[in-house]
Amino acid sequence: MTTSPVRVDAGRAGSYDAASTTWGGLDGELARLEAQAALSFDEELRLLRDLGLTRAGPLLELGAGSGAVTHRLRAAEPGLPVVAADIDAGLLAHAAGAGAPLLAGDAARLPLRTGCVGGVLLRYVLQHVADPVPVLAEALRVLRPGGVLAVVEVDSMLWGLADPMYAEVSSVHRAMAAAQRDAGGDRQIGRKLTRLLRRAGFADVALRPFATTNDDRPTDAFAPHLGPERLVPLVASGALSMAQLALAADRWRRFLADPDAWVMLLGFIVTGTAPGGPDVSHERKQ
Ligand SMILES: C[S@@+](CC[C@H](N)C(=O)[O-])C[C@H]1O[C@@H](n2cnc3c(N)ncnc32)[C@H](O)[C@@H]1O
Repeated sequence: MTTSPVRVDAGRAGSYDAASTTWGGLDGELARLEAQAALSFDEELRLLRDLGLTRAGPLLELGAGSGAVTHRLRAAEPGLPVVAADIDAGLLAHAAGAGAPLLAGDAARLPLRTGCVGGVLLRYVLQHVADPVPVLAEALRVLRPGGVLAVVEVDSMLWGLADPMYAEVSSVHRAMAAAQRDAGGDRQIGRKLTRLLRRAGFADVALRPFATTNDDRPTDAFAPHLGPERLVPLVASGALSMAQLALAADRWRRFLADPDAWVMLLGFIVTGTAPGGPDVSHERKQ
């Protein structure tokens, strides 16, 4: 087993660039990915287990990034072999400590045998690729019959709820979604997932929403999604004005200072199975 990335024809990572995603460059992004996983992955994992993703390995984590989730998967499922893959070999090198084999390459062209894995996880990856179709086709190809694909995603129009809600910040969120679209990504991927998986040939396609609130965690734990740090590179690229950044930073500060402020983030998990396996849909908890 190697924990240095095996590089295979790695290329551009769509609308995602680890060094310019948030304030603080690559170090800032490593911290953001870690905080993002700490915020909601426990709840995601509960659903992923119910949906059968961890039933049979190896589990291929496509777009594993710095390994924030790889570490957690390895700790929670010590008996499950996990392979972490990403198009960005430099970012993936940070996953080495997770003890999973690392594979640097494009999710749309994997150097893996047909039918060699039991599960595939795509977490916050499809929103960044210019075309999710070849990625889903490749996931289906490498899954053995009955294997499970799970996609964890968001949709920018259904990001969640906050109280108080600052209507004046919505133009900032629209600008962020537009910048991602201009770079080849899609922050409205959530609404398309079930259809994309069905068209790709997956069976038993199911969607489960998951919610994360500050009822049981501090409000500042939501900074990876809602804080102004992610907006700083958008000012540098001209997608956002300084005035918009200042407005978003001010409202986030106000929100943090309000002891009664409430927030709920909404995410989606969409699963599908590779056709041809035994029927295990009855084993899934409803
Ligand atoms: C927002 S990060 C999410 C990282 C990780 N899944 C997590 O939840 O912490 C998106 C990741 O997708 C990777 N990615 C984007 N396009 C890819 C592609 N075509 N093939 C493989 N990885 C890709 C990026 O390099 C980046 O690491």
